[in-house]
Amino acid sequence: MCGIVGYIGTQPATEILMAGLERLEYRGYDSAGLATVLEGKIHCIRAKGKLKNLRSKLAEAINPSQIGIGHTRWATHGKPEEYNAHPHLDMTRRVAVVQNGIVENYQELRSELKSKGHEFLSDTDTEVIPHLIAEYLSTTTELDGFFKAVQQTVNRLSGAFAIAVVCADYPDELIVARQQAPLVLGFGQGEFFCASDVTAIVPHTRAVLTLENGEIAKLTPLGVEVYNFKGDRLRKAPRTLDWNPIIVEKQGFRHFMLKEIYEQPGVVRNCLEAYLNSNWHLEDHPNFSPINLGLPPQFSENLEQIQILACGTSWHASLVGKYLLEQLAGIPTMVQYASEFRYAPAPITANTLTIGVTQSGETADTLAALETEKQRRSGLEAKFQARILGITNRPESSLGQIVDRLIDTQAGIEIGVAATKTFVSQLMAFYFLSLDFAYARQTITQEKIAAIIKGLSQLPAQIELILESQERYIEEIAHEFSETKDFIFLGRGINFPIALEGALKLKEVSYIHAEGYPAGEMKHGPIALLDAKVPVVAIAMPGDVYEKVISNAQEAKARDARIIGVSSMNKNEASSIFDNLLSVPAIEEILSPMLTVIPLQLLAYHIAARRGLDVDQPRNLAKSVTVE
Ligand code: F6R
Repeated sequence: MCGIVGYIGTQPATEILMAGLERLEYRGYDSAGLATVLEGKIHCIRAKGKLKNLRSKLAEAINPSQIGIGHTRWATHGKPEEYNAHPHLDMTRRVAVVQNGIVENYQELRSELKSKGHEFLSDTDTEVIPHLIAEYLSTTTELDGFFKAVQQTVNRLSGAFAIAVVCADYPDELIVARQQAPLVLGFGQGEFFCASDVTAIVPHTRAVLTLENGEIAKLTPLGVEVYNFKGDRLRKAPRTLDWNPIIVEKQGFRHFMLKEIYEQPGVVRNCLEAYLNSNWHLEDHPNFSPINLGLPPQFSENLEQIQILACGTSWHASLVGKYLLEQLAGIPTMVQYASEFRYAPAPITANTLTIGVTQSGETADTLAALETEKQRRSGLEAKFQARILGITNRPESSLGQIVDRLIDTQAGIEIGVAATKTFVSQLMAFYFLSLDFAYARQTITQEKIAAIIKGLSQLPAQIELILESQERYIEEIAHEFSETKDFIFLGRGINFPIALEGALKLKEVSYIHAEGYPAGEMKHGPIALLDAKVPVVAIAMPGDVYEKVISNAQEAKARDARIIGVSSMNKNEASSIFDNLLSVPAIEEILSPMLTVIPLQLLAYHIAARRGLDVDQPRNLAKSVTVE
């Protein structure tokens, strides 16, 4: 949700900032802007819409300044117009600020500043920041006046924010601060960077430092100094990222979304390698867990209940997780929308494990819900104490600062705004967690555990097979839906969350209205929606609810709906029920979500691509939702 970037060093800043913004554009793309400092002046340039608009404007305005800040916006306060684009400046145009987050008390600050004669040019919350800094600057003659003015300012702001600031009168200082919104610093040779995400930094250096909440840093060509908001100097050292910048390239794919769909077999392989004890064999070693998540024993001791907090696609993965934890490990599990939980948490229960699931590790609602849980349990007697586990592919994210332990889902960074590979990697984490608990609690037999593990290890090849055999077909049929207005997705049991996920993927990237339902619920109302214009996608995998889903699909067919089946059924059998078959290999029902989701991702992708939409950056969305 908005991307910010900053540079100070020995090279011209503009191109570095633009390249950084290109790597952050997935965070927001309503408008963009840059500010550099040159010859005692701030040079600011902004454009509505995507970065390419800023790039075309820049052609005439490029300058050799070696310090600057940049921003790509996802609008919160004020429309996506140029006058609301960042950077925002004070009235004298001496201070420029970019922000990711929301200043909650901006109305109050704006009134205060207006009473002192300040005039505002935008509708944003951010604009109060440069005005406030300028106000403090006007009262100081100190050498480090700029730093102090920013420090005083951040102490007046409430909300969640990350900012980067430059000042025309301090051309060798870039000041940044963080409060509940991500900000990473990069350490190069005589050059320093800041960005909302390491993706913008890794092409230059892998030495990074993640700022923590309540920290403010001064970047100069000589180095970086970190302080807390009170002004106490903190001793901090960068760490080296184990990261390959190549993974942020499209590598020949038309879109990141398609590339990431194709990365899924590899992601599953990585998970298997990381978390399966390779020397576990049923016959030889029945006495240690086949799973190696490295979780401390107190996570599972006396465990009575699990609550999972997540949003969007991660919430769907959590619903599959609930099914697994309950059916395999016998642990009652609740899944809550983090955005709801944070304002209406469920009553505190004893011996409860809380799991936060988030691909970005930065979702404001999920982080706040986990903080709420942590705080309300602190100081309570032992059985009520918080045990918090995070599941993410971004272990370096803010999530890591809140939870006691993390499971790294091994998916690496995902750039396409619609989550694909991170979803299957979250499912893998839930399979491992459930099996680990099932082993410890002896809720299922060792033979069953061995059978599931065998099934898991076959997944990469099976996903590859779906990609090879189905993509062309799905691409062909996609054009038949390019004018469709509504879709229904049906699933039951462990595939109900996959129906929700299929519908969400389609909505996000193709802008077609779609709903996911538990197939058995159709007759309780939604069946009224059906006619020949509403295709129904039915997920029908052999298992406990197979016949039921097929009957539900027949009921939809009887209402003239076109039925698209996702199934392992053979073609002949399928042709009497489905108008189109998206074929997946036969698999144990409990593992089937790992396969059934793949054709649905491809369907959403190809319908959107056929409609000529910007698949990787759908309108109104952002990859990392760092505001409420
Ligand atoms: C859907 C999607 C969103 C996210 C949601 C939570 O494709 O990407 O629904 O799943 O915003 O994001 P994370 O997982 O980063 O907490």
